[in-house]
Amino acid sequence: MPGNIIKPEPLPGKQQEYMKLIAEIMEIRKRGEAPLAYIRTYGCQQNVADSEKIKGMLALSGFGFTDNPDDADFILFNTCAVREHAEDRVFGNVGALKNLKRRHPQILIALCGCMMEQKHVADRIYNSFPFVGLVFGTHSLHHFPELLYTSLVNGGRVFERGNDDKKIYEGFPVRRDGSFKGWLPIMYGCNNFCTYCIVPYVRGRERSREKDVIVAEARQMISDGFKDITLLGQNVNSYGKTLQTPVSFAELIEEIDGIDGDYWLRFMTSHPKDCSKELIDTIARGRHISKHLHLPFQSGSDRILKAMNRHYDRKRYLDIISYAKENIEGLSLTSDIIVGFPGETYEDFKQTLSLIREVEFTSLFTFIFSPRKGTPAEKLDDPIPAEEKSKWFQELLDVQEEIAAKRCSAMVGQTERVLIEGVKPKTGELNARTSGNIIVELDGSPELTGTFQNVKITKARNWILKGELI
Ligand code: SAH
Ligand code: SF4
Ligand code: F3S
Repeated sequence: MPGNIIKPEPLPGKQQEYMKLIAEIMEIRKRGEAPLAYIRTYGCQQNVADSEKIKGMLALSGFGFTDNPDDADFILFNTCAVREHAEDRVFGNVGALKNLKRRHPQILIALCGCMMEQKHVADRIYNSFPFVGLVFGTHSLHHFPELLYTSLVNGGRVFERGNDDKKIYEGFPVRRDGSFKGWLPIMYGCNNFCTYCIVPYVRGRERSREKDVIVAEARQMISDGFKDITLLGQNVNSYGKTLQTPVSFAELIEEIDGIDGDYWLRFMTSHPKDCSKELIDTIARGRHISKHLHLPFQSGSDRILKAMNRHYDRKRYLDIISYAKENIEGLSLTSDIIVGFPGETYEDFKQTLSLIREVEFTSLFTFIFSPRKGTPAEKLDDPIPAEEKSKWFQELLDVQEEIAAKRCSAMVGQTERVLIEGVKPKTGELNARTSGNIIVELDGSPELTGTFQNVKITKARNWILKGELI
């Protein structure tokens, strides 16, 4: 449909000028010492990837980085709006900056990300947190240098919620946090409007990056030594719909998989409604694609799935799972679940329990429903008391713990290829991960960090494995 095509635009050239100007102002203020930024990221990998762009722009503006807010000239919280708890944490931590601002009046405090795209949140920040000088949402990233420059020179407060929710910009300088594990956004936004979810309102409409740009970025990451690359999107299975030459997600990963090198390719998140057999076949024959499928089902009850506007039912979900299990050897499955959606009964919840028993996921991300302002689910009757939902939630955790322990014990004695991710500060052991995303702890030299190793699994403790280098 030509009407839906979204063409990429380059990062506006003026932004390069602003980065230079910021570097000059900061140079004058700091007299040769590099100004420091403290960036704290909440929420999902999309936010982590956005923060990496912001860090890239700050680095080009002359900033260095610090882990200590007290040393910083610029503090930025990149926020998440997905649940009330996430928002409360941000409000609490922003409140705590009041004293810091008193101690260091020169400091610029800024907030960005998903929360800031909600008018009621930006208004609350404006009225209750006068020491916050700069606020911008997810649609304003492409002119962050201009916003930062304006706040630095004006000294006043700059608040912006963008309208560019249908655009896509290329050419951001990305400063990745890791050197062997990295995120690669392939699309932005979401069109699904699951009735509980705030994401489509704060991230705008679904739009895909051009295939060739993504493949080139993946090639660069691989040649830079990245070993574990995760393609990011809210619903990667619908990748390509806004491109002039439509491409499916399976075609995209097949092309990236064709790049030579020693690396794992992962992706998040798959939506069951668009998960095709073609995709599963591609994973099955992939050389680098990890044998891991994160496929959130949210609820095992058809009645609740309908109320959530998920566009699949339990049978369709289980059919994909059996096709995937039959075709992908050593498949590891993970999922997201919401407990206590408005109107959910214990009978509905029992269907979620029976689904997890049937599928036997490696691990689960479980959430209690949190009403989000402006979503359809916020207005639904929700008669089940919070304590009751907590009991169901605990029951879910107990069942999953049993399943994970069983799955992990079955791996004892096997040999697994793992990526060593770092050293556990408490025990000095190495932390590693299997292709199926299971944590393995083992003894070894910290210098192995960032390398693939073969390990023999010697023990299982709930969902964590212990192993030995071979
Ligand atoms: N795009 C992804 C998920 C993004 S949000 C997908 O569709 O799978 C990550 C998870 O947060 C969701 O899968 C859901 O389980 C949970 N979530 C989203 N909104 C929520 C809400 N209002 N209350 C509780 N959990 C929520
Ligand atoms: Fe939210 Fe649904 Fe979009 Fe996922 S697919 S981001 S749950 S609206
Ligand atoms: Fe949160 Fe925004 Fe991600 S709401 S979960 S940071 S897309």
